[in-house]
Amino acid sequence: MIIKKTITHAVLAAAMAVSSVSAFATTFKVAVGDAEGSAQWAMATQFKSLLEAKVGGKHKVDLFPNGQLGGEETTVNSASMGTLDFSVLAINNVTPFSPTVGILTLPYVIQSAAEAKTLVMGEVGKELTENTIRDAGVRIVGWTFTGFRVLTNSKRPVKTLEDLKGLKIRVPKNEIMIASYQAWGINPTPMAWSETFTALQQRVVDGQDNPYITVSSMKFNEVQKYITNIRYVFSLEPIIIGEGTFKKQTPAVQKAILEAGKEASQYSYDYLLKTEDKIRKELTAKGMEITDAANGEKEWIAKATTAVWPKFYDSIGGKAKLDRVQKLLGR
Ligand code: MLT
Repeated sequence: MIIKKTITHAVLAAAMAVSSVSAFATTFKVAVGDAEGSAQWAMATQFKSLLEAKVGGKHKVDLFPNGQLGGEETTVNSASMGTLDFSVLAINNVTPFSPTVGILTLPYVIQSAAEAKTLVMGEVGKELTENTIRDAGVRIVGWTFTGFRVLTNSKRPVKTLEDLKGLKIRVPKNEIMIASYQAWGINPTPMAWSETFTALQQRVVDGQDNPYITVSSMKFNEVQKYITNIRYVFSLEPIIIGEGTFKKQTPAVQKAILEAGKEASQYSYDYLLKTEDKIRKELTAKGMEITDAANGEKEWIAKATTAVWPKFYDSIGGKAKLDRVQKLLGR
């Protein structure tokens, strides 16, 4: 009797396993670089429900937050090789694979969330998408709008470039961001995103920069005390799919992916506008001290734009490209 019951349970379990495998035509895996609660996560969860609804429940989308499927940089290769379907990651971690997207991290080019949206949701975004397919084998299908990257550190309030001197600051492995700190007079420490929290915790580095929502979702307030409002880079974090994987989908699924990406981008933009201020207040309540850069950030802006822009004209596709972007933004 007992044996029969056990066998019945085993058969049932096997049948359930088979049915759960075959219930969906495809299960798309999505790597998310940041933790749950991040802007990346908000966009990815929205993308998931939109896409699942648009394909009538035929395909499933599974999200893996906090770099579980590999560091952000690694996921570009994985998506390109087809061992991962989608990845949500900061654009600065795509730049090493497709240098023209560097236009989005050139210091002080983007001066507001609205400008970020104008750029990536319009012609410029389209062109950059084509370039990432050509250079890196990945297609950008949507964007997370995460806000300006503010500077955090564990040592002291920083208002001037003089205050910055002597601090060890982690930056992504991104030449433009490295050059920005060099223009400000220090040699930053390039480091993978996945190693950053531990490095801050163990005081290997004193600080880093990332938007408020990221600082909060990654719990940097536990290891950092001071925030400086700098606005040199507006963080844009695309959702990418391996081009091979995209091409393998039926036209209907491709359409659903592109529509879900576009709608999730709008959702992400609205999410930023309604969330950032609340998060800033929460970080203050948790003990972080927030300060503005001195003199309207003038010195920071002058040094970075003068020294950094000309160095990267070639890699972003020529000075004319930057001029076109500036014109588009009304400058
Ligand atoms: C980085 O600093 O490497 C990224 O901006 C982190 C992120 O994806 O939030």
